[in-house]
Amino acid sequence: MTAASSSSPSERRADAPGAGEKRTVALLFGGRSSEHGISCVTAAGVLRAIDRAKFDVIPVGITKQGATVLMREEDLEGYRLEPGALPEVGDNGTRVLWPASTATRTLTVVDQAGALRSLGHVDAVLPMLHGPYGEDGTVQGMLDLVDLPYVGSGVLGSALCMDKHAVKTVLADAGIPVAPWRTVTREQLSRDPYLSERLDEGLSYPLFVKPARAGSSVGVSRVAELAELPAALEVAFAEDRTVLIESGVTGREVEIAVLEGRGEDRPRTSSVIGEIVFTGRDFYDFEAKYLGAAGVELALPAQVTELEFEAIRDAAVRAFEVTQCAGLARIDFFLTDEGPVLNEINTLPGFTPISMYPRLWQESGLEYTDLITELVELAIEKKPAY
Ligand SMILES: Nc1ncnc2c1ncn2[C@@H]1O[C@H](COP(=O)(O)OP(=O)(O)O)[C@@H](O)[C@H]1O
Ligand SMILES: [Mg+2]
Repeated sequence: MTAASSSSPSERRADAPGAGEKRTVALLFGGRSSEHGISCVTAAGVLRAIDRAKFDVIPVGITKQGATVLMREEDLEGYRLEPGALPEVGDNGTRVLWPASTATRTLTVVDQAGALRSLGHVDAVLPMLHGPYGEDGTVQGMLDLVDLPYVGSGVLGSALCMDKHAVKTVLADAGIPVAPWRTVTREQLSRDPYLSERLDEGLSYPLFVKPARAGSSVGVSRVAELAELPAALEVAFAEDRTVLIESGVTGREVEIAVLEGRGEDRPRTSSVIGEIVFTGRDFYDFEAKYLGAAGVELALPAQVTELEFEAIRDAAVRAFEVTQCAGLARIDFFLTDEGPVLNEINTLPGFTPISMYPRLWQESGLEYTDLITELVELAIEKKPAY
C-alpha cells in the first residue's frame, strides 16, 4: 500500500513561517533512559550554542516517568556533569502536546491549572535524547505520526542501531567486520540454568557482556573468566532482557563522525578520527566517559595512517547507509592489525561542546554552532518517511 495523504509534507501549512524567517526548534531532552542526566547536559550545551539569529528554541523536557514538560531556558543553566549529581528534568506540572494532526505544526502547553496555550509553530524537533525511549525510534515514530521533522535517524535506523544484536546482524550480513558474539535472553537463561556455563563457547576472553539496548557503558562488564559471567549477566539484565556476550577485541578504540549528505550526496565523514587511549583503565566505562575518572585519555586527532583512515571512513559510510541512518551518527571501531572492527553506531551521540562528535567536526572545520544549524536544516529538508 502506498502512503497517500491529503496534505503533502512539502505543502505550506497555515502556521508555517515565510521564507527567510526565523525557524523554531523544539529542543527535546531528559527522557526515560538511564542516560537522562547526560541528555540534560547535552541540551544545555546546545541551548548555549544554537544560532539565535536563525532559531528560536522551545525547551521541552521529558521526565524519567515520561511526562513531556515545558521548561524555561533558565532551568537548563545549572545543568552540569557532576559526579553523583547529574541533572534531572523535574515535573513542573505542565504538559506539552504535540500537533494534533499533520495539518499543523503547532505545539500546545497545558499549564498546571489545565489551561491550554499555543506555543506556536515548530519547524523541527531536536531530540537530544540518548538510549531507550529517545534514541531507539520510539520518539521518532511519534513525530512521524504527525509529520513533524526531527534531527537524526528515522524509526528503523534508530531502532536498529539501538539494538546491538540487531545491528551486528545487519552489519555482518553487509560484510562489515564486528566482534564475534552471542545473544541470550533472560527467559532462555531461566529455562536452562546450565546455559550460563556454555555461554562462552566459541568466544575468546576477556569477554564483554552488555545489554542489547543501552549506552554510556551502563550495564557493560569485562569478564576475565567464566566464574565472573553470572554477575556480569545480572548487571546487564538490569538494563535489558536481551544481553550480548562478545569476544574482547584487541585494538585501538577509534571514533569517526558521520553527517548526512545534502540532497543526493553521500554521507560526509569528519576529516579526523578520535581515539580513546587507555592509560591504566580496563575499558571505557561510565566513570571514564562522564565523570573524569583516571586511566583514559582522548586523542584528537588520532594518529592513523592514510590507509587506516580510508578503511575506517569507508566502513563508516557503508554502515551509515546499510543501517538507514540519517542526520548524524558517531561510529565507533576497534582498529586491529587486520583492519577496523565496528563496535557500535550511535545515532544520537554525546553532543555537549566537549563531546567527541562535535569536536571531530570542529577539528574538521565545522564549528559547534554551525553543526547544529546544519543538522536542523537537514531535518527540515528531509524527505518524508514514505
Ligand atoms: N568486544 C569488545 N572488545 C573490547 N572492548 C570492548 C568490547 N565491547 C565493549 N568494549 C569496551 O566497553 C566500552 C563500552 O561498550 P559499548 O559496546 O561501546 O557500549 P556503550 O553503547 O554503552 O558505549 C567500549 O567503549 C570498550 O571500551
Ligand atoms: Mg560505546
